[in-house]
Amino acid sequence: MYYIGIDLGTSAVKLLLVNEKGEIVRSVSKDYPLYFPASGWSQQEPSDWWKAVSEGLDELLEKVSRSEVRTIGCGGQMHGLVILDENDEVIRPCILWNDGRTDKQTAYLNEVIGKDKLNGYTANIAFAGFTAPKILWVRDNEPENFKRIRKIMLPKDYINYLLTGVFSSDYSDASGTLLLDVKNKCWSKEMLKICSLKEEQLPKLYESYEVTGTLKKDVAERFGLDPQVKVVAGAGDNAAAAIGTGTVRDGSCNISLGTSGTVFICSDTFKENRNNAIHNFAHANGKYHLMGCILSAASCNKWFCEEVLKNNDYQSLQEEISNEMLGRNDVYFLPYLMGERSPINDTDARGMFIGMDMSSSRSDMYLAVLEGVAFAIRDCLEVAKELGIDIEVSKICGGGSKSSLWRKIIANVLGIRLAIPVSEEGPGYGAAMLGMAADGLYESVEDCADDLVRVKGYEETDEELVRRYEERYAKFRKIYPSVKQLFKQLQK
Ligand code: XUL
Repeated sequence: MYYIGIDLGTSAVKLLLVNEKGEIVRSVSKDYPLYFPASGWSQQEPSDWWKAVSEGLDELLEKVSRSEVRTIGCGGQMHGLVILDENDEVIRPCILWNDGRTDKQTAYLNEVIGKDKLNGYTANIAFAGFTAPKILWVRDNEPENFKRIRKIMLPKDYINYLLTGVFSSDYSDASGTLLLDVKNKCWSKEMLKICSLKEEQLPKLYESYEVTGTLKKDVAERFGLDPQVKVVAGAGDNAAAAIGTGTVRDGSCNISLGTSGTVFICSDTFKENRNNAIHNFAHANGKYHLMGCILSAASCNKWFCEEVLKNNDYQSLQEEISNEMLGRNDVYFLPYLMGERSPINDTDARGMFIGMDMSSSRSDMYLAVLEGVAFAIRDCLEVAKELGIDIEVSKICGGGSKSSLWRKIIANVLGIRLAIPVSEEGPGYGAAMLGMAADGLYESVEDCADDLVRVKGYEETDEELVRRYEERYAKFRKIYPSVKQLFKQLQK
């Protein structure tokens, strides 16, 4: 029997074919373009996702006994605004999670409606990347498009809709819309009113591991699959990644180093969190989590190597960084290439190098990039600490986690051990696991994680390096507050 897990990411879709023992039998990745039509704007074409998913499925299922496919689960980039008209046509390109155009609408929500009210309605405050400010942006800037909206979807919900014809979403992904009452797991009537929406424009909500429907007849025929193949509601990519790395127990933590960087902390119960620098969302196991999200993580690495150094051999560039250089770098980098979400919530912030002298080399600058991302992740962990959460060990996943150098830097900057799962395919694997649980192979998502997720090793901390990074982090923390106002002036 086979279970398909889809990770609808920002740079590519990754598809996994998993057997009933939880082994990844095949994986396929298909890229699609990302458009930056203005500074801080970020868009994609939903039709590009579907094309990539379709081609990916064809390749994934080549020479596979297709009648053995039981379920499909999809984890996807969160917060993106996909809007459909009365003919189910996509109205405009999707505005993505790392798009910063909505600073006006975000300020309106946080300052005019007020953070207290938003907290009461949704358990969160507004961030530019969340879906509700984008809906207000379309209402303010594209009123003709706004009038045509019949369905509002998140990216992976669009794929599920094309597969099943069922207009659905799950609580983990819906949490990031700022339209969900996270505590009570229902759409917030107040938020709908603020955004001039009607509930029928929003999808029906499910737990991530619930089956929402089966394949549409034409879709089943197109891929040679049984129309009885079940599709689960799926999850936001971070919740799916947490399932895929076995981050399902109260207090456990997963760090994801993808295009974004996230710190994801499980909670069995809903907890009031008035420090909204990190998000208070539902988890894909039916429970809750706290999450800090930095907008540029592995994308800083890609940008610096490919755009600045014009070299995509990351490994040899990292080999130029010796162990002795760690924790001794006088060059610092602010990784805010797309503005920043957690914890500073500033769409005007931008990337910045500081501290170079005549002896600084490209390796010092590259190291500063890797360290800057680690320091920004530490900023999120500090917020969790302020909330009384003590993390001693975390899983790590995502493309960036393949680099042992980067893992070492992160472990020592955070001062915690990092557990490396056998499969670093967090979201895709987690999405397949949701299908396995839905198919009755396991009693619960937790049981599935306990049985399937294995750790292949740990990145340990080094006392001396932790000490050195503690000093560097104290210096890093001084940089942003002293240039914050300047960033605002530069963006005017
Ligand atoms: C989480 C977030 C990102 C995207 C990346 O809040 O915005 O991690 O989900 O795909």
